[in-house]
Amino acid sequence: MKGQGRAGTGSGAVSGSTMTGTAGTVPRTMLPAGLPACAVVDLDAIRDNVAALRERAGNAGVMAVVKADGYGHGLVPSARAALAGGASWLGVAQPAEALVLRAAGISAPLIAWLTVPGDVYPEAVAEGVDLGVSAIWALEEIAAAARDTGRTARVHLKIDTGLHRNGATAADLPDLLDAALKLQAEGLVEVVGAFSHFAWADEPAHPTVRAQTARFVEALDLCARRGARLEVRHLANSAAALTDPETRFDLVRPGLAVYGLSPVPQLAGPERFGLRPAMTLLGRIVMVKSVPSGAGVSYGHAYTTPADTTLAVVPLGYADGVPRHAGNTGPIQVRGRRYRICGRVCMDQVVIDLGDPGNGTGVEPGDTAVLFGDGRDGAPTAQDWAEAAGTISYEIVSRIGTRVARRWIGLDMPAAPVPRSRARGIR
Ligand SMILES: Cc1ncc(COP(=O)(O)O)c(C=O)c1O
Repeated sequence: MKGQGRAGTGSGAVSGSTMTGTAGTVPRTMLPAGLPACAVVDLDAIRDNVAALRERAGNAGVMAVVKADGYGHGLVPSARAALAGGASWLGVAQPAEALVLRAAGISAPLIAWLTVPGDVYPEAVAEGVDLGVSAIWALEEIAAAARDTGRTARVHLKIDTGLHRNGATAADLPDLLDAALKLQAEGLVEVVGAFSHFAWADEPAHPTVRAQTARFVEALDLCARRGARLEVRHLANSAAALTDPETRFDLVRPGLAVYGLSPVPQLAGPERFGLRPAMTLLGRIVMVKSVPSGAGVSYGHAYTTPADTTLAVVPLGYADGVPRHAGNTGPIQVRGRRYRICGRVCMDQVVIDLGDPGNGTGVEPGDTAVLFGDGRDGAPTAQDWAEAAGTISYEIVSRIGTRVARRWIGLDMPAAPVPRSRARGIR
């Protein structure tokens, strides 16, 4: 068996199901011994991606979006790497995610923009987490939390400029703004920001991009006319940050690009923007066997071997985030050669057809299979998987299941022991 050596503490230590180490010394394709699968996250890549985004943003700062467990890359490690790359702000969806960052000692400016009635407002306000507000009910709950904690709450007005998801419409904004400014006069809240989100920035020439930007400017003018003194105005997600300088304002707010994936794959890959994918998903070959021509493979026999051949089994399935739609299409590289999943994706495993009755490939149990990585050496990427499954790369990385161990390399992360159970929860 190859490629399974345990790294020493100098280059990263294995602990439970996770390890950390230095990107240069611990290869991204090293699957620690005994693990069925592992998502390796190169924190140097995240840091460098943020540095590239910063450079492209000109005078605007970068708010790195680390919601949803850092798009599957680990909330706290991703946040640290993004800050090391020069992010001046962090963004998450839920206040509980922001509290995990604060509990980890991260004191950078931080906003959570998706709150629900009865949310952890007092805790968020006490921890200095900025909150996005779309409606007056949320403002009232935030003001109550400010009263209870004795701390002024910092809010960013979320403006619906055309996504028609969250945010105050042009008709509702004047009332929301007036209510916020009244609470500001009482010392309960401070209106520090305004923001919006694009519907169609992944098609840079789409007319909604211009229209939404214009509506955002109108909303900012209204805020200014009514006396709001905003610290930060932010609109651009990854696609806009990379393709449209007019959408930058004070901060750009990229998520996907932070992790090295292209938000406009139909136009350009990540390398065009100086980005590199941070995650590599590895699985261990657990079974290799000969089968005759005409053998139906996996549930429903959706694949039949066209000739005598050798099959190999990889212990990753839809419970681990391998999309079931990737049956008969998902690419997997073993020993430098690319194969496709044959038959259906099961809950815990997939099968590949090595296409050689004598197993001249030499693939054997214990070998490392690369599902996706940074695309070097011909290995598939998360974008390849997105295309194979008819989805987007966002979904491929953010849905990697909690059963898959994470291994963080790079950034000289301390090799702190992480209990196996905790390592699989929120980080
Ligand atoms: C409000 C908001 N801003 C920014 C982002 C980051 O978007 P992207 O990952 O496309 O850069 C998201 C992600 O969905 C979001 O919901």
